[in-house]
This record gives sequence, C-alpha cells and structure tokens, in this order.
Amino acid sequence: MSKHYLTTPIYYVNAWPHLGHAYTTLAADILARYYRLKGDEVLFLTGTDEHGAKIQQAADKAGKAPQIFVDEVSSRYKAVWEKLNISYDQFIRTTDAEHIASVQKFMERLQERKALYLEEYSGLYCVGCEKFITEKDLVDGKCPDHGTAPEKIKEKNYFFKLKEYLPFVKQLIEKDEIKILPQEKKNEVLGLFKQELEDFSLSRQNVTWGIPMPFDTAQTVYVWVDALINYISAVGYGRDEVKYKKWWPADLHLMAKEILKFHAVYWPAMLMAAGEKLPHEIFVHGYFTVNGEKMSKTKGNVLDPVAMVEKFGADATRYLLMSQFPFERDGDIKAEQFMEKYNSDLANNLGNLVSRVSQMIEKFFNGEVPEFEIEVDYDLEKINRLLEELQFSRALEEMWKIISTANQMIEEEKPWELAQNRNMDKLGRLLYTLSVMIKDLALALEPVMPETADKIQQIFKQKVIQKTVPLFPRLYVNPPKLKHNYFPKHI
Ligand code: MSP
Repeated sequence: MSKHYLTTPIYYVNAWPHLGHAYTTLAADILARYYRLKGDEVLFLTGTDEHGAKIQQAADKAGKAPQIFVDEVSSRYKAVWEKLNISYDQFIRTTDAEHIASVQKFMERLQERKALYLEEYSGLYCVGCEKFITEKDLVDGKCPDHGTAPEKIKEKNYFFKLKEYLPFVKQLIEKDEIKILPQEKKNEVLGLFKQELEDFSLSRQNVTWGIPMPFDTAQTVYVWVDALINYISAVGYGRDEVKYKKWWPADLHLMAKEILKFHAVYWPAMLMAAGEKLPHEIFVHGYFTVNGEKMSKTKGNVLDPVAMVEKFGADATRYLLMSQFPFERDGDIKAEQFMEKYNSDLANNLGNLVSRVSQMIEKFFNGEVPEFEIEVDYDLEKINRLLEELQFSRALEEMWKIISTANQMIEEEKPWELAQNRNMDKLGRLLYTLSVMIKDLALALEPVMPETADKIQQIFKQKVIQKTVPLFPRLYVNPPKLKHNYFPKHI
C-alpha cells in the first residue's frame, strides 16, 4: 500500500474563494478519492494563508480586527469546499497555534544552521503579490498583475542564504529528484537559475500581522515563508515526530504557474537549509481566463463556485470544470457554454443512458436482467492511468466514449423492436451488456462525480432494477449569474 500526501496551495483570505481556487482543490480531491478507492493511504491537505500586509489591509478595509476577518473568510472556504464535496483530510490555517509553533521551530533551526543573516535592505514591494519587485517589472509605475503602485520599503531584515543552496536545488530538479511537471515548467524553472536569483529577506519589521521571529520579536516572518511551512507544519513538524515521519515528504504539491518559483526554488532551498527532506513532485496546472480575460475584482468577472453549484449541482460543476481543457494547459472558460454542455453531456448522454437502460430492464425483464458471457472493449486501466497523470479531461473523454458506445448500441440494436419480436435472448444480452458498462462507468466516475456514481451504483446493484428519476434534469435557462459577490456586505 502506498501513501499519497497531496497538497493544494493555501489560499489567501483577502477575498472569498472563486472558481480558480476551486479548480486546483477539485483536482486534488479527484486524486485523493481515486487513491483512496484504490486502497492507498491518503492525506489531502488544503487550507488558508492568513497573515501578511495584504490580509491586514483587507481586514482594515472591511473595518474588522484581522483575526475576526480571517475567521470569517476561512470559514467561507470550508463552506464552499463542502458544497463542492471536497474530501480534504486536513484544513490548515496559518493562524493555528500549532502552525505558529512549527514556523517558529523552523526559524530557529535555520538560525542554528547559520542559514540567516541580518541586513538593511530597500526595495519595491507589491502587497498584492506579497513580494519584492523590480523597476523593470512595472508597467507605468504599477504592478502589471495588481494595477497598484508598489511600496518603497527600507528595513533591516533577516535574509536567507538562498544562493548557497541554488546549485543543489538545480541539480535535484535536473535529475527529477524533485519532479516538476509538465516538462515545459521544469524547463522554465531551470531557466530561472540562469538569471540572478538573490538571497531573500524572510522577516518583516513593519508588518505586525504575522508570526513573530522567535529570536527577534520585533520582526515577523515573511508571509510566503510562513505559508510554505504549512506543508510540514500540517504533518507535525517540530511537534509530532510520528506523524511527520509517516507523511513527509509530500508526494505532490499542486498549483498554478504564478507561484511556481516559491515552490520550486525557495521551498526546496529552505528545506535543505533546515536539513529536511524535499517534496517528490510539483505539478503546475493551467491558468484559466474568463471570456479571454483574467478574473479580477476590478473587471467584475470573478466566477463563483457556489453560484455554479446552485445552478448545476456539485457533480455537474465538477464535471464542467474538469472537462473544459487539458489540466496542464491554460484555457478560457466560457460560462455561457456550461448549460449547453450540461444538457448534452450530462442530461442527454449520461442521464438518458441510465434512465433508458433501467427503464427497459424494469419493463422487459421485470427488473431482473439475465446474465450472459460478454466481452467489452474499453480499457478501464487506461482511465486510471490518465487520472494518475492528472489528465482529467482526457480521462473524462474516455468515460464519455463508453457512454456514446452504449447509446449507439441502443440506437443500432433497437431494443424495443427486439421486445416486439420477442427476441428475448438478444434483448437480454444487450441489456446485460449495457448494465455492465454502466456499472464499470460508475466505478470510473467515482473520483470525479462521487454522488452520481453512488446513485448509479445504488440503482444497478439491486436484485430488481427499477427505472429512475433523471440524474440530470434538463436546464432551459442560462445561469443568470455566475458572477462572484466578491466583497460580501457583512465582511
Ligand atoms: N497564498 C498563496 C499560496 C501559498 S501556498 C504555500 C496564493 N494564494 S491564492 O489565493 O492567490 O491562490 C493561488 C492559487 O489559486 C493558484 O496557484 C491556483 O492554484 C489557484 N488559482 C487562482 N486563480 C486561478 C485561475 N484563474 N486558474 C487556475 N488556477 C487558479 O497564491
């Protein structure tokens, strides 16, 4: 039995969760469910990133004390994950006392191992990115991602001796000891080593909403360092040796490209400096835009996963999101096409198949389909392989091929005519084959659409099969609003 420690990024709590956060979390959920079904041991970790200037500013803007503010937004994350049936094993918050203790232990360790030094530094800091940026990154004096002017910061900070570890990190990535997928992202990371990668400051003098540096409480830990440590603090770093030994290193860190440098360069270097093991794999999935534009508060095009679940249901939302485009590629979400896809793939193809077959078994065989020796020509192992490779849309395509083959068999073999001609042997064989296909399909679907898989299994495991209500009622009106209520009134 193998173990799988899977992580998502921990999300900032400056605003409510949106479809981008849901995308990564769903992918992790599908993998977690897949491996659990296989009988493997899984720890699926997600959570919220709650410290730093950006969160402090959002709390100020909302007129709330930071702790109250982060409590509210973090619970919103949990509520949204519940709606989407996200089966996380652990939800970490960087304001948890246990996490704070681990971060401080880690800082002490770096200090003991002489990986830190104090230095006066001045630079341009983008609060939206929570990182220093350079003049040449700016467009019209503003951060291109956030459209805001960076702050000039001049402080004395603890610096991390990143440069000392770079050659080792590079080598590990080259040798795939830290595997970075897809390949082009590995190349991008290796490209970073050709540029100047500088030591970075891992403490802040003027940010009070953070974890105090244990040996210099006038400083707080830089929010990105605090956040990265979540992956080890969640499994008990510095507190619970048994749990830590069992789960660390992580098997898979999932994320999108904008935070790859932190995960592929800074994080391994920090771990190495502290003498800890390194994560096995980093998978970078595509970034999506909405009708060609980046989701942003100012553009008002941020899509809300809850609105989507309310319109389509959790399973359909999971299907619609994961079948859009190959997971490793960037893509564009066209929300107005969701309804069409819902109606064709789910209501027509899958839903109709299940109701037609169950209805015919009830009608022609009083619910008891006879058994036959049959052969089917699809490869469930291929679907498993695609899921393990995080090729979710391709895995779904394979499943939908089974659905179309089944529907085609019904069209071609015309079971109602077989019944009229009392050709019960052929009819029985057909319905038995279809029921086997549907059961296999339900198994394959389980990680992606757990509720639907369960409903199908309930119907087809009965000794006497009865016709069912439609799994996916047809929808006639486009979702009026998938827009995000970005800053809810009460926050
Ligand atoms: N708090 C940091 C992560 C710290 S991890 C130690 C952070 N948070 S975030 O809230 O901005 O989440 C970023 C992540 O959300 C992305 O890496 C990706 O996983 C997901 N996505 C956000 N928008 C997305 C899209 N438009 N498309 C795909 N994924 C998206 O960065």
